[in-house]
Amino acid sequence: MAKNQNLTGEVYYPAPEIVEQVHIQDFEAVHQQAMADLPGFWGQIAAENFEWYAPWEQVLDDSNAPFYKWFVGAKVNLVHNALDRHQRTAIRNKAALIFEGEQGDRRTYTYQQLNHEVCKFASVLRAMGVKKSDRVTIYMGRIPELMIAMLACAKIGAIHSVVYGGFSTEALHDRIEDSASKVLITCDGSRLRGKIIELKKIANEAVDRAGTIQTVICIKRTGQEVEMVPGRDHWYHDLMNLPIADPNAPTEVMDAEDPIFILYTSGTTGKPKAILHTHGGYMVGTATTLKWVFDIKPEDVWWCAADPGWITGHSYIVYSPLVVGATSFMYEGAPTYPYPDRWWHLVARYGITILYTAPTAIRGLMRFGENWPERHDLSSLRLLGSVGEPINPEAWRWYYRVIGREKCPIMDTWWQTETGNFMITPLPSMPLKPGSATRGFPGVEVDVVDEEGNSVPAGEEGYLVIKTPWPAMLRTVYKDPDRYVRQYWSRYAEQGWYLPGDSAKKDEDGYIWVIGRIDDVIKVSGYRLGTAEIESALVSHPAIAEAAVIGVPDELRGNIIKGFCILRQGEEGSERLEKELRDHVGHEIGPIAKPTTVDFVDSLPKTRSGKIMRRVLKAQVLGQDLGDLSTLAD
Ligand code: PRX
Repeated sequence: MAKNQNLTGEVYYPAPEIVEQVHIQDFEAVHQQAMADLPGFWGQIAAENFEWYAPWEQVLDDSNAPFYKWFVGAKVNLVHNALDRHQRTAIRNKAALIFEGEQGDRRTYTYQQLNHEVCKFASVLRAMGVKKSDRVTIYMGRIPELMIAMLACAKIGAIHSVVYGGFSTEALHDRIEDSASKVLITCDGSRLRGKIIELKKIANEAVDRAGTIQTVICIKRTGQEVEMVPGRDHWYHDLMNLPIADPNAPTEVMDAEDPIFILYTSGTTGKPKAILHTHGGYMVGTATTLKWVFDIKPEDVWWCAADPGWITGHSYIVYSPLVVGATSFMYEGAPTYPYPDRWWHLVARYGITILYTAPTAIRGLMRFGENWPERHDLSSLRLLGSVGEPINPEAWRWYYRVIGREKCPIMDTWWQTETGNFMITPLPSMPLKPGSATRGFPGVEVDVVDEEGNSVPAGEEGYLVIKTPWPAMLRTVYKDPDRYVRQYWSRYAEQGWYLPGDSAKKDEDGYIWVIGRIDDVIKVSGYRLGTAEIESALVSHPAIAEAAVIGVPDELRGNIIKGFCILRQGEEGSERLEKELRDHVGHEIGPIAKPTTVDFVDSLPKTRSGKIMRRVLKAQVLGQDLGDLSTLAD
């Protein structure tokens, strides 16, 4: 690709034939149009691309900011746009979802077939007493029924709360209890690297502890013997065979601002918080960003290799691909099982045209060398994507050269559970710089500022802020509006800016380089974990009196977790106890939260008010300057 003198650094320009055929060829023009009249911009998109049962009176109501409202007064259901409306067009017979299990089993659902299953399950849920605004917890592996369950909830106006299938008892229990879910949808087990993870067993433990769940619906996936509690537990396949499972179940008419789901994510303090998204704005935002950033065309086979249990999967596996009428691919298992070329095999077999994954996966696959991808025909690929953490330029270049064969632009999308959709991202027509997520999506004004809110000069680190509201923005923290205001809107309350909690730099060309979290959130392999959750799991072990954990940079996983524990009197530190503690955290939260090491210490650096100074621990581990220690107690 040609070098252009206008942009600084390492720049990759899109080939003219790519620019010619993409949805948005001139980012600047569209962005300016959006900034000139934000409600007008989103109102036009919403009117032209979606079906509404009743129109809005106002596109954006900012009178009670930061409690913004979008498409006020409109009636809609996202599922009507994802499934119902496609039944009247040729999309009906198109593949909505192509699935391959880790063992090689395959299934395809057309839009008609997916709708059939969703309708049936929606009416089952209704028959079991699930009503509009009831919370339903879903805890499953990466299988089509997870998608069906989410869509069935949204269809009847129930609020789903999906708990990632890699979480364990305590994490599941907390989320069930906080959301006060009466129904849990789970499966007997899920498959990963040839092993079975016994989800029903974990679910039983969590449900016993929580006490709010009255009904459990269990999908049979792995087939081992599981304990079913009579009266409480039902097999999915039994329910779906009852006459109540109506393939023509009606879709609930919702307000645009009615919640579609809550999703728990880790924050700075305390327990994970539930981020709330809505039917109207979330639909408009996710579908528009998918269509423009990944340039979805009718013939594409889109593979978002995330898990539906995270926001990436909610937005870009389950909801937006269906709304835009795309064909999605879903794979159940691990990228390297049984061999390190499983993914490349899948790309070739299904003719994947767009692959969207996380830097940690790319780095993991990179380790195995180029021979594995080179064995496969990857020529169907035309676009690549990255999400979840900063992508290091080396991994970017490998992805670009070895997987994309130097012809696929890489969309490095920065966003969050809270933002609902891509916020800082290139479009395929834009010049790329490895490691930069480039610019704000049209209509999204992004900046890097200092404590006072002044834009920092190019090359200097500062706080990332978002200065304009967007349709898919979170509406609140479920049951905790104060926390919503405090966490995201208080730092720059005067200016009314959103604070994501990341630090970043801007370069001379206005490109954004996200550096990482500024709070006590650790990104491990792209997973978002809070120090508080892991510490609380550690101190729930009988040998531990106090604990602190920090994230330390790691080449493969982005960060790893290091734990520091003060033992209870009479306890002794040993390798065995260290292993026990790691397993304990795995059992409580999930394997992803296991500290890589646990050190036994006599004291922890604390402020005089007793707050653990994790930055001091981190500086010590990294051999850096300890910084300002004036608030240190001891
Ligand atoms: O630190 C940023 C990082 O992931 C955080 C959000 O995590 P989560 O809510 O789990 O959502 C992840 C998937 C959308 C952000 O605050 N992050 C996400 N994408 C990027 C990123 N950091 C750098 N570059 C990205 N592309």
